Amino acid sequence: RGTMTVGDLAKLLHKDASEVIKKLISLGIMATINQEIEMEAILLIAAEYGSEVEVKIPVEEDDFEKDEEKDEEADLLPRPPVVTIMGHVDHGKTTLLDAIRKTNVTGGEAGGITQHIGAYQVEINQKKITFLDTPGHEAFTLMRARGAQVTDITIIVVAADDGVMPQTVEAVNHAKAAGVPIIVAVNKIDKPEANPDKIKQELTEYGLVPEEWGGDTIFVNVSAKQRIGLEGLLEMILLVAEVNDYKANPDKRARGTVIEAELDKGKGPVARILVQHGTLKIGDAFVAGNCFGRVRAMVNDRGRRIKEAGPSTPVEITGLTEVPQAGDPFMAFEDERKARAIAERRAIKHRQSELGANTRVTLDDLYKHI
Ligand code: GTP
Ligand code: MG
Repeated sequence: RGTMTVGDLAKLLHKDASEVIKKLISLGIMATINQEIEMEAILLIAAEYGSEVEVKIPVEEDDFEKDEEKDEEADLLPRPPVVTIMGHVDHGKTTLLDAIRKTNVTGGEAGGITQHIGAYQVEINQKKITFLDTPGHEAFTLMRARGAQVTDITIIVVAADDGVMPQTVEAVNHAKAAGVPIIVAVNKIDKPEANPDKIKQELTEYGLVPEEWGGDTIFVNVSAKQRIGLEGLLEMILLVAEVNDYKANPDKRARGTVIEAELDKGKGPVARILVQHGTLKIGDAFVAGNCFGRVRAMVNDRGRRIKEAGPSTPVEITGLTEVPQAGDPFMAFEDERKARAIAERRAIKHRQSELGANTRVTLDDLYKHI
């Protein structure tokens, strides 16, 4: 972390010191020509000249992990697995997600599964499973591009009356690259022309060999439309989850990922988030991406207002000042001022990195003078 004088900075930027001082004042920083200014201010000034001067800003990897409270092994408790569904166009992803969601409507909640919050939970054998219902490819590419890993298990849907298609292969590659276990759901087995063995055969070429053929990939035959094989699929998910022993500490401040966000006419900015660590509570101050907030209300996937959300729970929250982006990291902080300051810093960094794209003086140049 370096400093440099206002005069040196002005020289570096080929500007008058008086002009730089004016810029500093406009940013709320009072300085004289011989005064040392901090990196933060140097970068801000450089960014102000972004279109004229080249500045490459080091965008700090700031995924909140360093602000997270550390876990003791004994704090870790089992959590539901988080599952995404991927597959080729028209192979039945949406139908399968809807069908799974409906396996779980208990009597008291008739008609109560209306809420779309980007993810939902089902319960089988007293165990929960969280499904992300954003389209799998989007969720994967978007979130992974932003460094977020939200999925524990991927279900790859392949239509038994069709075959392995380009997006099937892409899905396999995504899941493998992310190191996420794959379960293959061979769908549309109700169709007369369905040929599940052909799918298995084709997928062996991509390294997915069924257990009965000596491999270790789970294949489940289903019909999303006729609701065949769904329980078996859910049981396989629980089996994979048990083997992988997914755990999290529910007893600390929440950290997670924004799944979707939008500006709601009535409610203002709304974010649907997946809590991955800790427990989120009403009133918690938080940062989501570059946005600051304080949890005003939380709604679960059944449309119910809740006060707390633990690991692997999807919730919709209100109380944001702005709309974050899908894939943004989310973190609750113990004090509002810290959360606000971090959100501001992240926003500045974000702006700098955008401005910095088309500039001339490089960061190396800047550092040489510091
Ligand atoms: P995209 O979102 O466009 O990529 O498609 P998708 O993978 O979500 O497929 P979707 O669920 O929309 O299903 C595509 C078509 O296949 C629809 O007409 C479904 O009714 C039909 N379909 C889905 N599952 C089954 C099934 O198990 N059996 C039969 N017969 N048809 C199915
Ligand atoms: Mg779909």
